[in-house]
Amino acid sequence: MKTYIVGNWKLNFTVGEASIYLHKLLKAIPNYRDTEVVVAPSLIALQPLSLQVDRHKMKLAAQNGFYRDYGAFTGEVSFSQLRGIVDYAIVGHSERRYILREDDKMIAKKVAAAIRNKIKPILCIGETEGERAFGETKDVIRDQLLGGLSEIGDDMVDKVIIAYEPVWAISSGKEAKLAAPDEISEVVKLIRKVLTDTYGKKVAENVPVLFGGSVNPSNAGAYLTVPGVNGLLVGGASLILSEFTDIIETAKRVRA
Ligand code: PGA
Repeated sequence: MKTYIVGNWKLNFTVGEASIYLHKLLKAIPNYRDTEVVVAPSLIALQPLSLQVDRHKMKLAAQNGFYRDYGAFTGEVSFSQLRGIVDYAIVGHSERRYILREDDKMIAKKVAAAIRNKIKPILCIGETEGERAFGETKDVIRDQLLGGLSEIGDDMVDKVIIAYEPVWAISSGKEAKLAAPDEISEVVKLIRKVLTDTYGKKVAENVPVLFGGSVNPSNAGAYLTVPGVNGLLVGGASLILSEFTDIIETAKRVRA
């Protein structure tokens, strides 16, 4: 399986800044065959960047999309409008779950809409600090995983990428805790077990599982060698060219 390094730019960079960054990033990295590099700029930058990107080197992801293809949904952008512009879409990021109040039902419809429009969803799941403290991690992971996959057929599950992002490990300006590789390993095992029990071993083996939460050049190697982890979802560090390229090179090195 390929290694995925996905940069989530969140609400950062103007269109001009995004274009300059992409230009530099394309110059900085060679064409890595086994490492899928993906960046998720803000929505407004996607269309121009889709004309600029070299898809042999890197793919684009949307940070969100709407679950209906068209209609009276003021302010929304559909996956059918994003079709052909992006190859991936982040769905159910914790910032959307907790700030924008997206629930598993809505997220499941978005996963289905992305697949319907030939866009690979990166379904984010993860427990909050409180849920972890109350010993609810397993239940939350199971609920968010099966909830997010509930609107697609079993034969579509291997079209989805899962990103495990413990909410307490995401650097959102506040001091975030670093997740320990052992703890990640436990959750990734659980994710594969739930997928195996529900959809069978073959599907479970084919679904990439990424880790995200304060990934940086100094911990990327350790996270990429956690058994069962197939890549990283990188927020803050993906905004700094030298850090992001360092993480990409680490992926190439440790997973060669
Ligand atoms: P972070 O963000 O790497 O800045 O913690 C990760 C994410 O939210 O996807």
